Amino acid sequence: METRPLGRTGAEVSVVGLGTWQLGGDWGEVDEETAAGVLDAALDAGVTLLDTADVYGDGRSEERIRKALAARSERPFVATKAGRRADPFEAAQYTPENLRAWVDRSRRNLGVDTLDLVQLHCPPTAVYSDQRVYDALDAMVDDGAIAAYGVSVETVAEGLTALEHPGVQSIQVILNVFRRKPLEELLPTAAARGVGVLARVPLASGLLTGRFTESTTFGADDHRNFNRHGEAFDVGETFAGVPYDVGVAAAREFVGICGDRPPAQVALRWVVQQPGVTSVIPGASGVGQVRGNVAAAGLPPLTDGELADLERLYDERIRQHVHDRW
Ligand SMILES: NC(=O)c1ccc[n+]([C@@H]2O[C@H](COP(=O)([O-])OP(=O)(O)OC[C@H]3O[C@@H](n4cnc5c(N)ncnc54)[C@H](OP(=O)(O)O)[C@@H]3O)[C@@H](O)[C@H]2O)c1
Repeated sequence: METRPLGRTGAEVSVVGLGTWQLGGDWGEVDEETAAGVLDAALDAGVTLLDTADVYGDGRSEERIRKALAARSERPFVATKAGRRADPFEAAQYTPENLRAWVDRSRRNLGVDTLDLVQLHCPPTAVYSDQRVYDALDAMVDDGAIAAYGVSVETVAEGLTALEHPGVQSIQVILNVFRRKPLEELLPTAAARGVGVLARVPLASGLLTGRFTESTTFGADDHRNFNRHGEAFDVGETFAGVPYDVGVAAAREFVGICGDRPPAQVALRWVVQQPGVTSVIPGASGVGQVRGNVAAAGLPPLTDGELADLERLYDERIRQHVHDRW
């Protein structure tokens, strides 16, 4: 699998990583055996980047990663996140003490002295311009609790604000065939500053696999049901913020552009060939999905004609729903 440097961290990571929100919760139950199988399949296939967070299943995703890695000799780069344990969820909660407590809990969950990367987990917008937060993160780098830090953002504007801070080593943002705005300014700015980019929600929560129809239903414990209108968190995290029926219709056209290649792989291939992207981090609920997603790294790049078709699809069907919002 192709690897790329993650910004200035010194780490080389696979272009296809693994998102592990699914191994914690919010996507319906993923049992222990399946979770272990997903992690093993990814690592066996050459994935060297895992993305997790302290709140995925209230620590369950991190703990499952620790257990999977205990049985293996190689160590992937594990990017976790901190900040959504803030209660109430407001900027004033991002104190050095709270940040330290969240980081220490992740160190215990993952069973490491030093976290490879901590990303601020889509905090309130004001946090991205609070110098005290960056000072607290710098202090944790200095004392070895974390090797590096970055940010996960909802909006391009938040990402650009974070990039003003020299200690930021990575930006995580939604980027997919239905979410193109980061291509305009965020990715070029990150590249110019030597900052790594992790592209999340690359399949638009599964829409870009082409397997959903207008009548598909999701379980009560699946955010594609309970957050359809942003009831629990930013609606942009569910189907990339594209209204479901609009997304299903656009995905049908996307499948046509993919020809005889699996749409999920084409969607991932599109992400990894965008200049400035370090890695794409698709989530997976089963071993077969992991293997399919890893195979995307080996697909030939999309042609100019296909890229133009995808841009047109976005402009005609999707742009009006997402472009000015995130
Ligand atoms: N705020 C944040 O920082 C934030 C927010 C969201 C996500 N993330 C991170 O980004 C990762 C990826 O985003 P995401 O999981 O939300 O969305 P995603 O990667 O766009 O979609 C994942 C879903 O797509 C389906 N899928 C995956 N591979 C497939 C394949 N080969 N064939 C068919 N279906 C496939 C699965 O759906 P089924 O479950 O229906 O099988 C899977 O649960 C997360 O796991 C998490 O690590 C971070």
